[in-house]
Amino acid sequence: MHNGEARMRPGSKEENTFMSDGALSARSRLRPVGKHAEYLVDEPYIATEKNLSSRPAGGNEMKYLEQVLASGNLSSLMGGTVTPLFEKAFRRLVSSKYSVAMNSCMSALHSAVIAAGAGPGNEVICDSVYVFGAMAVLYGGAIPVFVDVLPTTHNMDPERIEAAISERTKAIIVTHAWGLPAEMDRIMAVARRHKILVIEDAAESLLATYAGRFTGTWGDIGCFSFQASKQLSLGDGGMATVQDDDLYRAVANFAHAPTFLSVAHTLDYNYRINELTSAVGLARLETIAAEIERLESNASCYDHAVEGCDWISLQRGPEGARHSFYYWAANFLDGENAPDFGRFNDELAKAEIPSVTVGYTKMAAYQHPLIKYRRAAAFADSRNRACRMAYDDGQCPVAERIVPRMILGYTIAPDDVVRRDADKLREVIRRMS
Ligand SMILES: Cc1ncc(COP(=O)(O)O)c(C=O)c1O
Repeated sequence: MHNGEARMRPGSKEENTFMSDGALSARSRLRPVGKHAEYLVDEPYIATEKNLSSRPAGGNEMKYLEQVLASGNLSSLMGGTVTPLFEKAFRRLVSSKYSVAMNSCMSALHSAVIAAGAGPGNEVICDSVYVFGAMAVLYGGAIPVFVDVLPTTHNMDPERIEAAISERTKAIIVTHAWGLPAEMDRIMAVARRHKILVIEDAAESLLATYAGRFTGTWGDIGCFSFQASKQLSLGDGGMATVQDDDLYRAVANFAHAPTFLSVAHTLDYNYRINELTSAVGLARLETIAAEIERLESNASCYDHAVEGCDWISLQRGPEGARHSFYYWAANFLDGENAPDFGRFNDELAKAEIPSVTVGYTKMAAYQHPLIKYRRAAAFADSRNRACRMAYDDGQCPVAERIVPRMILGYTIAPDDVVRRDADKLREVIRRMS
């Protein structure tokens, strides 16, 4: 297994580079390290979000925070009452039977994998754009198997799921890319036919709907992120939505332990949210619908910027879907009329358009070194010997083609930044067409 030299060592040249030019550089760089090329420095896009995602308190945040602080109860485990209120408001908003607040979406995904019964000896099907679901599968000791996406939606291709199912498959994790719902009716039909569970990674799709139903409530368990850059921005935080009584108990028990009040029967985790985060969450849920409307309106600015360009195609469909625009997304299309992709990137960088990034998630999920070089204990677990672990290039050609060439607009940025950046994007496209 390859690793060692690829890690960033304290005081190393790599770390110094990270510290000195990280915040300033405009693009991630692929650096040759040993035999393999790897991203050692992948902070630039994060830096962009850091600057643009800030949303100062504008509603009841201060009031609810003061109430929590005045009460002295900073945990729902110790008498705090705000977390149950936050959970209730959330499940009402998205029409879910149950909801369990947590400290992150990764915690929710891990809890969902465990509740689905996926562990050593099992496979879980994941989409090939995002690596987060696969990471949660590996946390649980199971093995991710990847399915390609549709170039139009960036979401799992329902046609390809059946072929990826084996007798070891326990669940499917479906990500709703950038806030656009996957075709959940078709995905649910396949899953039900094979009696496997569906976990929705709705980290990016709060309040997005498909056929009038909210993402995160189609499947058995939905997982949401309230990390600072997301639509509901709480610093960090997450929520699992659950529709079945037993699954709810499994998720809540896994994520709310250990405590001194309980006997340890199973290896559970403390993924609790705290009352201060819940207080901000409760306040921000009151205005989230208006925030999504703002994002829709900002997305239309980027739409306008690429109008008429035949080498950029918008992320679109499926019919009956309402996008909630964590990002506005489009594909750079190679073709006769397209400019050189490298030149396009250079022109974007020169124009300084901080809310627009290209190739944000960099590579197909299984091309991330974690998966490609099998750097997790689950890969070495003998109980997984019968699982499929072939992560060769070429297995999901659509994801491999579109991921590095996705053009993304950060709709969450301040409105004036989005308008200015959309104008600059339009100007770059006009010059290069
Ligand atoms: C699709 C997706 N899944 C999972 C996560 C992880 O969320 P969190 O940072 O809340 O753990 C993210 C956040 O970046 C995400 O975009």
